[in-house]
Amino acid sequence: MFKIAIMGCGVVGSGVADILIEKKEELSKRFNDTVELKKILDLRDFTGTPYESYATKDAEEIFSDPEIKLIVMTIGGLDFAFNLSKRALESGRHLVTSNKEVVAEYGKELTQLAFDNNVQFLYEASSGGGIPVIRPINICLSSNDIYEIQGILNGTTNYILTRMKDDGMSFEDALKLAQKNGYAEAEPSADVDGHDACRKIAILSTLAYDEYVDYKKVPCDGIRNISYEDLLMSEKLGYSIKLIGGSKKTDAGISCSVEPLLLPKTNMLSGVSSVFNSVMVKGTYVGDVMFYGRGAGKLPTASAVAGDIIAILCGAEEKVLPGFMSKEAELVPAGNTPARYYLRIKLGEAAKADFDSSAEALFGKEAKTTEQGEYAAVLTGYFTKEELNSRIAQLEQSIAVKCENIIKAED
Ligand code: HSE
Repeated sequence: MFKIAIMGCGVVGSGVADILIEKKEELSKRFNDTVELKKILDLRDFTGTPYESYATKDAEEIFSDPEIKLIVMTIGGLDFAFNLSKRALESGRHLVTSNKEVVAEYGKELTQLAFDNNVQFLYEASSGGGIPVIRPINICLSSNDIYEIQGILNGTTNYILTRMKDDGMSFEDALKLAQKNGYAEAEPSADVDGHDACRKIAILSTLAYDEYVDYKKVPCDGIRNISYEDLLMSEKLGYSIKLIGGSKKTDAGISCSVEPLLLPKTNMLSGVSSVFNSVMVKGTYVGDVMFYGRGAGKLPTASAVAGDIIAILCGAEEKVLPGFMSKEAELVPAGNTPARYYLRIKLGEAAKADFDSSAEALFGKEAKTTEQGEYAAVLTGYFTKEELNSRIAQLEQSIAVKCENIIKAED
C-alpha cells in the first residue's frame, strides 16, 4: 500500500492529482502495489470537481493516516509550506516538492530531516520545471567534476524578452501579457528582478558542486532596465539578450550570478525563446550537456513531481541528495578578466557625426556600433570593468552622450 497525499491543489498540485488519478492502474501494476492518491489538502471547495472525493481541509487527516507514505508539497510561499514539509519528514514520510523557495531557504534542514528519518526528500520540479536536470546532475553526471552551469531558468522573463523583441512591446506591456497568460508569479518582482532564477541556480549549483550555495549571497539583477532598443540593437550586432543564471567552479572558488547577458547566436541558449527554459551543464568527462523544455506550467511541472514519486517507488536513490548538507560555498566574484560589453548610448543629433570615430577610438578596433532611433549601441573590445567605466566617462565628456545601459557580452 503506497498512498500519496498532495498538499496544495493549485496549478501544480492539481496537475499532480490529474497524473496520479490517470496513471493509478499503470503505477500499481508497475510496482506491484496499490499506488494511489488518497488525500488532497486545500482550503478551497472542490465540490463537483475530480478532486472532491480526495479533498480535506484538515492536515491531521493526512498525518494520522498510516497508509499515506509520501507527501507532495505544492503549497507556495515559505513558512506554512516549510512547517508542513518538516512534519511530513518527521512523521517518516517521503517528501516531494516543487516549492523552490522552501528548497533554497530550508534545503539544509529538510535534507537533514530526511537523513534522520530514513526517507527521501526530492525536488526535481524546483528548478527548470518539467526539465529533468536535478537528477541528471545528481546521478547521471555525478562521475564528472561539474565546472559550469548556465541557464535560462525563468520562463516569465524569457517570455517578456521574446514578446518585447518580436512584437515591439514595452517591458510593462509584455509583463501585463505574461500575467494575463498566468506565467508571472503573483509577485512579479520574483521573476523580473531575477530572484526566482537566483533560487534555481543556487539549488543547481549546490548539487553540482556539492557545496551549499546560499541564494541570498548570489548577486542578482533582473530585466527591468532592458529596452526594446537594446533587444533590437543587440540583434543587429549578432546577439540575443537573455536573463542567465550562471555559476562556475574554478581554482579560485565558486562564482554564481543572475544577470542579463548578450549571448552570440552560436550559443544554443540564445535561440531559446518564449516560456521555455534551458540549462547547459559542463562536466570534465561529458563536456557540454544541454537540457531544454518547459520550465513552468501545470502538467510539465507535475511531470517532474511525478518523476520524483516514481524514483522513490523504484528505490533507485538510496540516499537523499546531499548537496545542502555540505559546507557552505564561499562565493567569489566572477573575476575581472577583460570582457566585451554592450553599451546603450542616448545619442543627441549633435553627437551623431562624431559617434562612430569616438567609439572606435575609445573602445578598440573590434568595437562595433549600430543605431536605432535616438539610441546607438557599442559592442566594445575587451576591457576590465574598471577600464570600461573610465572609457565610458571619457565618451560622455568628449561628445554629449549618456550611457544608459551596460550588459556583458559572452564570447
Ligand atoms: N515564475 C516561474 C517562471 C515559474 O516563470 O519560470 C516556474 O518556476
